[in-house]
Amino acid sequence: MIAIVAVDQNWAIGYRNDLLARIPEDQKFFRETTTGGVVVMGRNTLESFPGQKPLKGRTNIVLSRNSEYRPEGVTVVHDGAELKEELKKYAAQEIYLIGGEHVYRAFLDDCEAAFVTKIDSTFVADVYFPNLDVDPTWELESESSVHTYEDLRFTFCKYRNTAFTGSSC
Ligand SMILES: NC(=O)c1ccc[n+]([C@@H]2O[C@H](COP(=O)([O-])OP(=O)(O)OC[C@H]3O[C@@H](n4cnc5c(N)ncnc54)[C@H](OP(=O)(O)O)[C@@H]3O)[C@@H](O)[C@H]2O)c1
Repeated sequence: MIAIVAVDQNWAIGYRNDLLARIPEDQKFFRETTTGGVVVMGRNTLESFPGQKPLKGRTNIVLSRNSEYRPEGVTVVHDGAELKEELKKYAAQEIYLIGGEHVYRAFLDDCEAAFVTKIDSTFVADVYFPNLDVDPTWELESESSVHTYEDLRFTFCKYRNTAFTGSSC
């Protein structure tokens, strides 16, 4: 599994169940990277999408502990064991962990890599991604040149989980 996230300078990722910023080039990167694959997300993240609708062109798997929760167009799993079982069906496809904070924290160890868009700003926020720069198990593999959108500066980074053993979830 590969985590994909956009963070600010404090590794913040969202506020009041919405993103911190909408950067068209980053949204394009996210769409092009994940399309055709499987996206794994928490219930709040699904509910943050327009119309609470799943992402098109991708298999959407949503985590919720609520057994009554059955939104249209997604597969709901209720814990890590069920997620692991479900993901066996998609062994031939790329699987992306797309957030939010709860889900990243629960399953980051099961990720071999992370695509991190780093926005060189700070925002008011209430959800965060773990700071990979202070985690010795994560290694920065590459960082793009600086891109800009309006007054925002950002880079595309790839981190590698040096502790990843190959078992997903
Ligand atoms: N910057 C980015 O790249 C990015 C990406 C994605 C999301 N976000 C932001 O992140 C925020 C949402 O994050 P969040 O932490 O509040 O919510 P979340 O992780 O999207 O969803 C949390 C919910 O998922 C379910 N869940 C989480 N872990 C589970 C587990 N181990 N087993 C079963 N169910 C589990 C629970 O649902 P139930 O309560 O139904 O049991 C939990 O309340 C929003 O602001 C969003 O915009 C940012």
